[in-house]
Amino acid sequence: MGDVANCHLVSLPRISDGRGSLSFIQPGPLLPFGIQRVYYLYDVPMGQERGAHGHRRLEQLMVAVAGAVDVECDDGRKRRTFRLASPDVGLYVSPMIWRNLTGFQPGTVCMVLASEPYDEGDYYRRYDDFLAAATAR
Ligand code: TYD
Repeated sequence: MGDVANCHLVSLPRISDGRGSLSFIQPGPLLPFGIQRVYYLYDVPMGQERGAHGHRRLEQLMVAVAGAVDVECDDGRKRRTFRLASPDVGLYVSPMIWRNLTGFQPGTVCMVLASEPYDEGDYYRRYDDFLAAATAR
């Protein structure tokens, strides 16, 4: 069962000097899974929403490497919205969380590190199906 309490912001390393800044992500306490896939959302039109699905097993870490986006996490009982607006902040999203991404600023690039290769069978695409599974005892 998912729990939004397990979704949390992660402060990523940031190394800054006169040449600019560098952040990095590697498996460890900040990233509790091995990276099997990286994808990114970009060119999202103003007002467009993304996400609107849940995952059975997938764990993710989302980073707005440019711009800003709101990520609403819903475990079927509770909801919590996180604002991603800095390349040195990630959002860990645990399995069995319905997520909606809204409020994309123009130019936003939202990078997602994922614990599994792409598998359509891992998705809940219908909220009713997600809710039934998420609230089943
Ligand atoms: P989808 O997961 O619905 O996008 P989002 O949640 O970000 O709005 O994926 C959109 C399309 O891209 C869908 O046809 C599946 C495909 N896709 C892949 O082929 N590989 C991937 O790693 C991802 C995330 C999506």
